Amino acid sequence: MTPWWKKAVVYQVYPKSFQDSNGDGIGDLKGITSRLDYLEKLGIDAIWLSPVYQSPQVDNGYDISDYEAIDPQYGTMADMDELLAKAKEHHIKIVMDLVVNHTSDQHKWFIEARKSKNNPYRDYYIWRDPVDGHEPNDLKSAFSGSAWKFDEATGQYYLHFFADQQPDLNWQNPELRDKIYDMMNFWIDKGIGGFRMDVIELIGKEPDKKIRENGPMLHPYLQEMNKKTFGGKNLMTVGETWNATPKIAEEYSDPARHELSMVFQFENQSLDQQENKEKWDLKKLDLKQLKDVLVKWQTQVDFNHAWNSLFWENHDIPRVISRWGNDQEYRVQSAKMFAIVLHLMHGTPYIYNGEEIGMTNCPVKDISEIEDIESINMYNERLAQGYKKTDLIHAINVKGRDNARRPMQWNDQPNAGFTKGKPWLALNPNYKKINVEAALADPGSIFYTYQKLIKLRHENDLVVNGDFELMPKTSDSVLAYYRKLNGQKWLVVANLSGNEESFSAKDQVKENIIENYDKHQQLQDLTLKPYEAFAVKVQ
Ligand code: GLC
Ligand code: CA
Repeated sequence: MTPWWKKAVVYQVYPKSFQDSNGDGIGDLKGITSRLDYLEKLGIDAIWLSPVYQSPQVDNGYDISDYEAIDPQYGTMADMDELLAKAKEHHIKIVMDLVVNHTSDQHKWFIEARKSKNNPYRDYYIWRDPVDGHEPNDLKSAFSGSAWKFDEATGQYYLHFFADQQPDLNWQNPELRDKIYDMMNFWIDKGIGGFRMDVIELIGKEPDKKIRENGPMLHPYLQEMNKKTFGGKNLMTVGETWNATPKIAEEYSDPARHELSMVFQFENQSLDQQENKEKWDLKKLDLKQLKDVLVKWQTQVDFNHAWNSLFWENHDIPRVISRWGNDQEYRVQSAKMFAIVLHLMHGTPYIYNGEEIGMTNCPVKDISEIEDIESINMYNERLAQGYKKTDLIHAINVKGRDNARRPMQWNDQPNAGFTKGKPWLALNPNYKKINVEAALADPGSIFYTYQKLIKLRHENDLVVNGDFELMPKTSDSVLAYYRKLNGQKWLVVANLSGNEESFSAKDQVKENIIENYDKHQQLQDLTLKPYEAFAVKVQ
């Protein structure tokens, strides 16, 4: 039997930016509950909820100080229970974000651990003596600077792969692992739909050998976790794995190995990055490379005994139309093209809030407009190294995480209906034009393309289980593929570029399925318009 999550479309809610219900300028749980009708109309099966746990909010909730409490800025546990119950009435499951590579430095485990070398919680974290009065080694934090922070009280360094305030947990400690599993079971007992696992590829780290991701114990830990928590319970699990290859993705998701349902891979995120440099060191985009990566992840993962996710956006990466498409003249067409090309592929699609109405990046002029710790730390570090301010702001406008974290654009009223107060992060001024209300009123909007794609997946086994076959001889910026199941055959054609492109196929059109321009009755010697995409049944 096909598990539910293979047929599902998941919608990511970034709670801080989704809907404020009490005028404090911060989105909250009651706000999400109030928008369930909208999400049901879109047709999604599950919400991936970014963290709402108690947190000092150094990294917008990815720094958790209590896994079994809701942050007051988001509401109460009663609000959470209400969201779960109401979502169920709307046939929507809630997938919780599981952040267990690290905690906040305000978590009681860390507060205890740093008190003394023999504190019972000391070994929940990773401590090392200084080497020649310095950091134990040159491991780097993803948020700039060393991954080691000196702690005066005990004269040792602790490891943090993210902010100083996000100390890494020591997964080698079986007692810690059991505490995590108990916490997961607390949430499972509440009736959640599963977990999205934050930077899960890091838990097998061996810092002394400078092993970060994909450490030798990673898969054994996941197998243990599966057995002690969600295994056999019909839940969805998706791991965030920036360094997965198709082979590694199969290891995580092969049901015979009892680990996860699927992972997120990010290979296309580095395509505009200079080799061996950081995400901020940009190079020109090449559509051929984007196409090759998309095809690679369709053809090199064996879906007969593995599975994978499909997504363009999340809270850590820029808006797809701003990055790869055209967020001005061809905003609507390019947004629909990206939707069509991705949602008819093999795997479980994810939509990030606002993607379904074509929200765009939001450029800033000055670092004072930025909230994200990653961008701010990078800016300060590089400014001190002599980089030019304008270049740094440019990089932030292209890749910074605040781009996709702007509040949701619900209508053209002040602050887009997101809040009646002062929003925690300024809205993208284009909300006057780009908003949910306008999208719902326009039958030709991006929203309805997403709605239709979700419906197509729900109603056609071919979209869920059909084989993927690339049409090899097309121009570099045209991606055309077949999906095939039980003698049925669909052809999906997408012009990834803003130029006209020629395309030709011998197949006969049996039926038009979806398109972002006109329907085609035949496929020979076509000129595809900028960002044109369509799907047809063929024979
Ligand atoms: C993941 C999250 C990101 C967070 C980081 C540390 O990459 O998606 O937002 O900053 O992990 O938890
Ligand atoms: Ca609020």
